[in-house]
Amino acid sequence: MSQQIDNVLHENRHFPPAREFQSRARLSTEEAYQRMYRESIDHPERFWGRIARELPWMQPFEKVLDWSGAPFAQWFTGGRINASAVCLDQHALGRRADQRAIVWEGEPGETRTLTYAELHLEVCRFANVLKARGVKKGDRVAIYMPMIPEAAVAMLACARIGAAHSVVFGGFSAHALRERIVDGGCTAVITADGGWRRGQVLPLKPQVDEAVEGLHEVHTVLVVKRAGNRVEWRDRRDAWYHEMVADVSTECAPEPMDSEDLLFLLYTSGSTGKPKGIVHTTGGYLVGAYLSTQFVFDLREGDLFWCTADVGWVTGHSYIVYGPLSNGATILMYEGAPTTPDAGRFWDIIDRHKVTIFYTAPTAIRTFMRLGDDVPRKYDLSSLRLLGSVGEPINPEAWMWYHREIGRQRCPIVDTWWQTETGSIAITPLPGVTVTQPGSATRPFFGIDAAVVDDKGHDLPADQGGYLVIKKPWPSMLRGIWGNPDRYREGYWGKYGNMYFAGDGARRDEKGYFWILGRVDDVLNVAGHRLSTMEIESALVSHEKVAEAAIVGRPDEVMGQAIVAFVSVVKGVVPDDALREALKEHVAHEIGKLARPAEIRFSDALPKTRSGKIMRRLLRDIAAGVETTGDTSTIEDFALLAKLRGDEE
Ligand code: PRX
Repeated sequence: MSQQIDNVLHENRHFPPAREFQSRARLSTEEAYQRMYRESIDHPERFWGRIARELPWMQPFEKVLDWSGAPFAQWFTGGRINASAVCLDQHALGRRADQRAIVWEGEPGETRTLTYAELHLEVCRFANVLKARGVKKGDRVAIYMPMIPEAAVAMLACARIGAAHSVVFGGFSAHALRERIVDGGCTAVITADGGWRRGQVLPLKPQVDEAVEGLHEVHTVLVVKRAGNRVEWRDRRDAWYHEMVADVSTECAPEPMDSEDLLFLLYTSGSTGKPKGIVHTTGGYLVGAYLSTQFVFDLREGDLFWCTADVGWVTGHSYIVYGPLSNGATILMYEGAPTTPDAGRFWDIIDRHKVTIFYTAPTAIRTFMRLGDDVPRKYDLSSLRLLGSVGEPINPEAWMWYHREIGRQRCPIVDTWWQTETGSIAITPLPGVTVTQPGSATRPFFGIDAAVVDDKGHDLPADQGGYLVIKKPWPSMLRGIWGNPDRYREGYWGKYGNMYFAGDGARRDEKGYFWILGRVDDVLNVAGHRLSTMEIESALVSHEKVAEAAIVGRPDEVMGQAIVAFVSVVKGVVPDDALREALKEHVAHEIGKLARPAEIRFSDALPKTRSGKIMRRLLRDIAAGVETTGDTSTIEDFALLAKLRGDEE
């Protein structure tokens, strides 16, 4: 097993929930947690059936779980439900009509508030615009948007008419967007002229123009006016949202969807060069997002919930849109960068809007740590009562800083482990119950039968590093990979046959707490963004001057991992700094800025075993500047090592 997996961290600080928090928490005793957890594992159908019945079904389900087609699960079969009705109608047509659903702040500083009644209306109108443009049930619609309320409105409008959305993060390039539009068979794209980021307008429409060029299947590009930047126009294909919406009705009945109908595709990176469209269906996903939001964030009346993720990631899907809104919560949505106009922006937002729950990523926390303690100290953060972390392992130092400087030692921290594939939080503290430890995501959430196993699938004893698996199906689990059932079966279930393999290494301590050790496959986690080494390698190799490329992650204090590229150039090309810059730009153009290598090292060839496999572990050690502990006896060319280390530079 790899070195990374054997790595054992010793952390002895313990933080029981503050009495004040516990006294009001939804779940406040270990016994209550154990009772619920045991029921969810021992009697999943009873447990999940009961929870699911809390949602407004249009037709009741007949069976809770059908696992006969394993590993393709079906949940709540026979039931009909509509995700937008779950998130809106029950609240807008009930006692929450005038309660705020979305509080939005743009980067330049303007704010907008939408009550449940207003959001309901907006979604109905947006849905009618989609219909007027010929979008119908069963279609797939790409969404490429800035963080404005219309991003959530567009998602819910798709769900309302039974079209699936495929949200692509606005930081992806035109090329990456095109690849996802084609793979998902999207027939319409929803975008904006641009959005605000770091004091500038980040244009989006031009990327969409480039992405859909020559794609005749895409009949509509619907454009929301946000930033006012000038855009090119293709008359029959393009439509301004504000022009279309003037002519549509404000009523739109939600489409009754089968529990297993597609709700959305969300692309993520795996260990091959091709991104995979993770398939999430309606009923099970909603149940997972609903329950986890309620218990992990201990939702109460009057909360203002701020999840800082972009809606382009699964965190935004589950904890900006579907989880909080299905619970009738109020969310805060912020458009821009965390440090614009200054380092205090996030804390200023919390102070002014009185945010109560704050959910962000370790990279952001580490960035703030570096900016200095005096920044958050200038603000009143007393409205906060709960903090969350997601997306990458949080190192104990960052955890402690978060606890001290942001939570002011009053707020529990929930370090939540999950994935695009799990749909909702899978390993997490429950804030009124769990004694937390910096760096541990602690225990499985309801219904998650997680374990750490060895190569053969045997449970490992406490404190031994191994592979993280989930042994039973859960409602919000992925239903597959779009258009590629075999890749789903092999990638997630192939290793052990009867267990879901997450691709992460972990260890479990004597108390049963999980300590996530990071990816064990060819996936990097850079600033909480999941990137495939293969995808970046193919982007590099597509450059005419590159012969071969290998990507590895180097530990980075702020971003968790930084991308290092080892590149050999084609004969006759002399590598220099200009080429280095050109290659970084090339990757940014092919995939997006998020995949831009931090460092490029040139060499005549890459170190390979005699059978021709690139020795990644060796490259990882070289990139990290540590002496390699790997076996180098099979290496072809020793002179290379010195060169790759940069000895002669
Ligand atoms: O490696 C784990 C890491 O992020 C991966 C999932 O990435 P993605 O599908 O983009 O979803 C991110 C947001 C849910 C996991 O395989 N990861 C996520 N949360 C944590 C984490 N690693 C350690 N601790 C976490 N809390």
